[in-house]
Amino acid sequence: MDAFSTAIRVASHEQHTEAETSTFMSDLLGGRLGVDAYTRYTEQLWFVYRALEDTASALRTDPVAGPFIRPELMRVAELERDLAHLRGPAWRETLSPLPATTAYAARIRECAAGWPGGYVAHHYTRYLGDLSGGQIIRDKAERTWGFARKGDGVRFYVFEQIANPAAFKRSYRELLDTIAADDLEKQRIITECKRAFDFNGAVFRELGDQFPRTAA
Ligand code: HEM
Repeated sequence: MDAFSTAIRVASHEQHTEAETSTFMSDLLGGRLGVDAYTRYTEQLWFVYRALEDTASALRTDPVAGPFIRPELMRVAELERDLAHLRGPAWRETLSPLPATTAYAARIRECAAGWPGGYVAHHYTRYLGDLSGGQIIRDKAERTWGFARKGDGVRFYVFEQIANPAAFKRSYRELLDTIAADDLEKQRIITECKRAFDFNGAVFRELGDQFPRTAA
């Protein structure tokens, strides 16, 4: 197969376009939804990143997933600051996952517990996306809802400890290219990456149902 980093990007390209152009994302980024929709989305991310990060330390020495576990990527603390800003100090009390979020987080935890390669698929799908398109989302969110630049509300998108995201992404792709997996396992990881995109699509659909575009 091609370099694994290329194979996984190419294989998920179509679903990436679907995610970007989903009704919820395009309404959100088009400024057609209120800050409550953005907040509800941020809450869903909290469940997803708890699943990715609660399980990370146990995988640190794993030969497949271990190299991907990097402290500078961790997002839960940032999400919690954003949620405290968005919902107030009692943010935990009202937090609830959508059904699609529950399924997504459960699948991440299942992979983390039994299949490190699958965990890498979920890790790639979220963190490499956050380092890329996440920056576009941050910019839109700051403009649409008036958050301070890189401040409370959008800290999730700010990787304070990654000075050069482009260089970081290059080194991440090198990790993918040298992953301790044979071709069959790489194929399985690619399949799981597509599932990860499906889970994100399902969350967007449920959010879209809950927050229909404001009538023009
Ligand atoms: C409107 C929403 C989004 C925008 C504007 C966006 C934009 C982008 C852009 C511009 C890149 C290319 C970066 C580069 O070439 O280095 C990228 C990469 C990526 N995005 Fe997104 N994205 C969005 C949503 C998503 C979602 C929902 C996911 C999955 C949960 C995702 C996952 C990824 C991944 C995994 C990559 C890395 C591809 C690779 O180089 O291997 N993106 N995104």
